[in-house]
Amino acid sequence: MVSKMFRTRSLAAGLAVLALGLAACSSGGDSGDGETAGSGDGGDGGAISVGFSQVGAESGWRAANTKSIQDALTEEAGFDLSFSDAQQKQENQIQAIRSYIAQGVDYIAFSPVVESGWDSVLEEAKQADIPVILTDRAVDSEDTSLYVTFIGSDFVEEGKRIGDWVSENLGTEPINVVELQGTTGSAPAIDRKTGFEDAIEGNDNISVIASETGNFTRAEGKTVMEGFLQAYPDIDVVYAHNDDMGLGAIEAIEAAGKVPGQDIKVVTIDGVKDGMTALAEGKISYIVECNPLLGPDLAEIIKTLEDGGTVEPRIVTKDEAFDQEGAKAVLADRQY
Ligand code: AHR
Repeated sequence: MVSKMFRTRSLAAGLAVLALGLAACSSGGDSGDGETAGSGDGGDGGAISVGFSQVGAESGWRAANTKSIQDALTEEAGFDLSFSDAQQKQENQIQAIRSYIAQGVDYIAFSPVVESGWDSVLEEAKQADIPVILTDRAVDSEDTSLYVTFIGSDFVEEGKRIGDWVSENLGTEPINVVELQGTTGSAPAIDRKTGFEDAIEGNDNISVIASETGNFTRAEGKTVMEGFLQAYPDIDVVYAHNDDMGLGAIEAIEAAGKVPGQDIKVVTIDGVKDGMTALAEGKISYIVECNPLLGPDLAEIIKTLEDGGTVEPRIVTKDEAFDQEGAKAVLADRQY
């Protein structure tokens, strides 16, 4: 059984220095030896109980992320996973987290749909001595003792890499860019916008003529792009904060009788199979990857804490970037 003392020690340790080797994590980590599995108090004979609140099922990226978590936090690996889908609603996530607190799970992990408004529920988890792990997206809480660690990509860097590529490859002459933002108030929407703006600052050839949310979904990306095409006859580039919105924009561009990749260039973030296929076909021009395969790392973090180890308060995952040739080279082996 995990004592309150153990939990407190783990939480404090989590704020200390790195002891987690992420290279080892991606191989799947410890598959649940008897000692670790025997130390949990999940009420089912020793598994570590974890409540995970997912953002939703808005994109191909999210589907891959959910699968990775469910594949890693299995019974065989020593976990008792409770999983909930918040359908992109913060109130659903808060309700799910409160229910995990009431159940007395050993750990709570979640990917926050938006950045703000988490302090109260995170304080409740802290009072209940339940360590919280943020995956994928950040919260803006000033009190970082409310969670043990945050694992995920550097979204500002992703936006910056897109902006650098656009600036160097397309911004050598005047261009009009439209931006499809992710979910309003979410960390990736805020950070990818900031990173892109920072990168293109100083390049007077680039004008961002419109920017609206497409909520990270293909359908909304298409609808917003249809509006852009009607309002602006002279769009050169679409910057979509994820592949799905970019793919929706491609449908709108084709329906308007234009050729994506030629008449209008599309650049996106994620690198899911559908996006990489469109890149290999020349419909998308450049993709910065956002790695969704966080499950093994999450399992390793929990096992490390459970064993009294320490993890860094911020763990940044590694992302690649692809042009057309790069996409063709990796597409056959792409896991998601
Ligand atoms: O938080 C990660 C983002 O969320 C992905 O880039 C997007 O596809 C998803 O909806």
